[in-house]
Amino acid sequence: VNVLYLGKLAHLRDDPFKFEKALEIIERGALLVSDEGRILAAGEQAEIKAQSDDARVVDFGDAWLLPGLVDGHCHFPQHYATASHGKDLLDWLQRSVFPAEMRYADARYASDAAISFVQRLLACGTTTATAFGSQFIDANMALFSAARNSGLRLIAGMTMMDRGAPETLLQSPADAGNQADALIAHIRGEPLLHYAVTPRFPLSCSHEMLELCDDLLRRHSDAYLQTHINESQGEIAAVRAGFTDAADYLAIYERYGLVGPRSLMAHDIHVSDDQLARLGGSGCAVCHCPTSNLYLGSGLFPLRRHLAFGIPVAVGTDIGAGTRHSLWQELSEVYKVQQLQDFGLDAARLLYLGTLGGARALRLGDETGNFETGKSADFWVLDDSENPYLTERLRHCDSWEDQLFCLLHLAGPGEVKATFVAGRTAHRAK
Ligand code: GUN
Ligand code: ZN
Repeated sequence: VNVLYLGKLAHLRDDPFKFEKALEIIERGALLVSDEGRILAAGEQAEIKAQSDDARVVDFGDAWLLPGLVDGHCHFPQHYATASHGKDLLDWLQRSVFPAEMRYADARYASDAAISFVQRLLACGTTTATAFGSQFIDANMALFSAARNSGLRLIAGMTMMDRGAPETLLQSPADAGNQADALIAHIRGEPLLHYAVTPRFPLSCSHEMLELCDDLLRRHSDAYLQTHINESQGEIAAVRAGFTDAADYLAIYERYGLVGPRSLMAHDIHVSDDQLARLGGSGCAVCHCPTSNLYLGSGLFPLRRHLAFGIPVAVGTDIGAGTRHSLWQELSEVYKVQQLQDFGLDAARLLYLGTLGGARALRLGDETGNFETGKSADFWVLDDSENPYLTERLRHCDSWEDQLFCLLHLAGPGEVKATFVAGRTAHRAK
């Protein structure tokens, strides 16, 4: 049977950076969801109720129904590497991250971590995540299984590296190719699971490994490409020294055919206009990860310049350089990082970046990101009623949009009451 969810609805009908009044808030809202998990209608309770006599009603009262959050960049094998020491990106990788990622060689450890990682994302309201997988195939199988079992929409792939780290984390390009093929075959036909070819960054990949990535993308046209770019000054200097014949960082990826509409580049902080113009022309998306950028001291992401060049931008937690699994809380840090650059963001723009904007950047904008009829019913319930200060603070707001803005800065995982993906309960607070 169809299910009718009642609550306060907020979502973006379109891009608020381009269109005024893109944000829609419906105080007495309703979401009608089909048996197959599709949105049949969203709007005023009075109207929607009239067209859904036989639906089962789930009333969330004064709580908010919000589109599922899109985490555009995180690392599964860094689930337990948050808040680890490091001087900067390269030092942190060697000192804290590579040792943490080595533990995923133990299949049992990795499978427990996969379940916890996926549950944690869902418990934060995230319904779609793009994740770097492990270097170990069994760990990646466990990640895809955990996502399939709980219902998380997941884009992920094996982190590929053949240099610059302890031996156990390295694969030969031939092995990496065979394992990627096996993982792609493993998830074929799964509607919520997608594969991303995942070269870590140029400092971990030989010429042969980057060529292999190109080969994988040519053979699997629906696969994504995810990697890192222009993150920290020290990293960029090392890349420049290692690739003296490349004009800039992006040129390395371009040479191997890795920059296109299904590519997603994380960070891109220290970037020239020339690279932005090429990114914009390619259709490649960029992921902004503010807590990571602050934590590692990498720099301030130039959002306004990316948007000016027409580059689709997602937001990511970048677990574990990012310090929290909550994409919602990440949005508050997006706000602060842009404040430091005189780019004030309102509730509509912040919510867009974490939902419809992120979904579009991941080329999933027809499937998820808002409450448009026909899309997958990916949403979560924000309930502030058990947070005494928050409920008092909200009473001092003059509009629903002001409330949403407050919630963007003051709510967190404690306020996530339930999360649904494709109409299925994927998380419910105890
Ligand atoms: N660049 C290469 N690897 C990583 C990583 O694991 N995290 C971040 N933030 N940047 C990287
Ligand atoms: Zn990352």
